[in-house]
Amino acid sequence: MEILKRIEVIQGDITKFKVDAIVNAANNTLLGGGGVDGAIHRAAGPELLEECKTLGGCETGDAKITKGYKLPAKYVIHTVGPIWQGGHRNEENLLKSCYKKSLELARAYSIKTIAFPSISTGAYGYPIEKAVPIAISTVVEELKKETIPEKVFFVCFTEDVYKEYIKHLNLIQQ
Ligand code: AR6
Repeated sequence: MEILKRIEVIQGDITKFKVDAIVNAANNTLLGGGGVDGAIHRAAGPELLEECKTLGGCETGDAKITKGYKLPAKYVIHTVGPIWQGGHRNEENLLKSCYKKSLELARAYSIKTIAFPSISTGAYGYPIEKAVPIAISTVVEELKKETIPEKVFFVCFTEDVYKEYIKHLNLIQQ
């Protein structure tokens, strides 16, 4: 699949990535937290929280954008994934919406390169083997529609998550 050339899976810390935008797996308040959210706020510095305070929170499945401040990335796109509750609470559509809305925002800001963490699969408990196919298929669908963003990175913090992305990409390439 030609579109897969625009997708790259990498293991590492998303706060170190020099891309146009990194995506934050935030919560409804947008006022910080643990996991990748905490790491992004620490690396960006206190100005990020000041800007987040002006945004009035964010609905689950939606996304909002801020500057990146001290991060190497120019922007942070904050999205709120669903909390896993067994799979019958619209979790799949909400997770899909996080990727879709983040990419729509990226396009609106002419963002060429964007990096996603594995939304909802940490504190929010979304099973990784269920979340990865949703993340990849939604990004593929969106990339087919437009030429921007040019490149999407999935940044995996742990080896388990990295292996899951690689496994799924290999499956759909066959
Ligand atoms: N770079 C890339 N990925 C990371 C990093 C990092 N620096 N740190 C953690 N991850 P989580 P969620 C991975 O819990 O499940 C926060 O408190 C992590 O290994 O950060 O969407 C928010 O404020 C996992 O694979 O986000 C919310 O309250 C993935 O990022 C809540 O957690 C997501 O894990 C959101 O939970």
